[in-house]
Amino acid sequence: MRLVVVIAALTLAGSAAAADGKQVFGRYCASCHGPDGAGSTGQRYGGGAARNQSVQTGMGPSLHGVGALAADFYLRTGYMPLKRNGIQPRRSRLLLSSAQIDALVRYVSSLGKGPAVPRPHPERGNVSEGMVLFRSHCAGCHQIVAEGGYVTNAVPPALGDATPTQIAEAVRIGPYVMPKFSAKAISDEQLDSIIRYVEYANHPDNRGGWSLGNIGPVPEGLVSWFIAGSALLGVCLVIGKRLHG
Ligand code: HEC
Ligand code: HEC
Repeated sequence: MRLVVVIAALTLAGSAAAADGKQVFGRYCASCHGPDGAGSTGQRYGGGAARNQSVQTGMGPSLHGVGALAADFYLRTGYMPLKRNGIQPRRSRLLLSSAQIDALVRYVSSLGKGPAVPRPHPERGNVSEGMVLFRSHCAGCHQIVAEGGYVTNAVPPALGDATPTQIAEAVRIGPYVMPKFSAKAISDEQLDSIIRYVEYANHPDNRGGWSLGNIGPVPEGLVSWFIAGSALLGVCLVIGKRLHG
């Protein structure tokens, strides 16, 4: 009997948590994205009592149709909730619990048909193909070894904290000033290679090789030059000693 009560209570708690999405949205997101996620132009919304409250409202795009993909990316990176209007969303400490985030992702994806959270397979990718693709599509902003770079009015972040899923999401969304890449521009297979390259650049696999720290495969030639240079210098020193000695 007691067990039944406990189970009933748990089930109730479970459905309350699932229903929470709208409530969490109302608390943290509606001020900018509108009470039903249809977007806000910075005007106050709501009638009656709401009109009399001095609620601060900001601007936010409509979330109808952005899907679980965008919600998952913007929430799990801590880009959202944005602190205030007019600033670049940045990766930050998560304000919301993972249960709240799960509920919000479900809520946002219920607002309209949109893309699901992608499931990339970097293990199927190829590092050198990824490097070539990264060079032509991403390095202009994120630099060749996936450290952050600079573009006007925005800071392309370093990619060291982005998970494979988040990289796949960012490429399909194009957050802030980053361009969005369709599956035509970059196929899912090519995306796997790009992710594999970014992971390689973040954590170079040094097994059986020379540790290059974080600099990735590109400057290997430079390192050869450095070693050759040091060897030459050594020879010069030896010759110098002989001449003097
Ligand atoms: C201070 C205003 C503000 C608040 C609060 C806010 N947002 Fe946003 N949100 C924005 C702006 C501005 C953008 C556009 C950012 C960009 O261009 O990358 C945005 C973008 C987004 C996107 C991406 C939309 C797209 O088109 O891909 C999602 C998803 C999102 N917000 C969800 C949320 C959720 C969920 C919350 C609450 C936890 C929230 N936001 C709170 C202002 C806000
Ligand atoms: C025009 C410059 C530009 C290009 C090209 C570009 N990005 Fe970005 N990228 C940005 C900016 C700016 C942000 C930060 C977005 C924000 O703050 O909302 C970003 C964010 C990201 C993030 C999220 C990182 C984090 O931890 O916050 C990832 C992952 C990413 N980019 C990957 C890529 C990949 C992969 C490519 C190539 C296919 C690419 N980007 C091309 C400018 C660019």
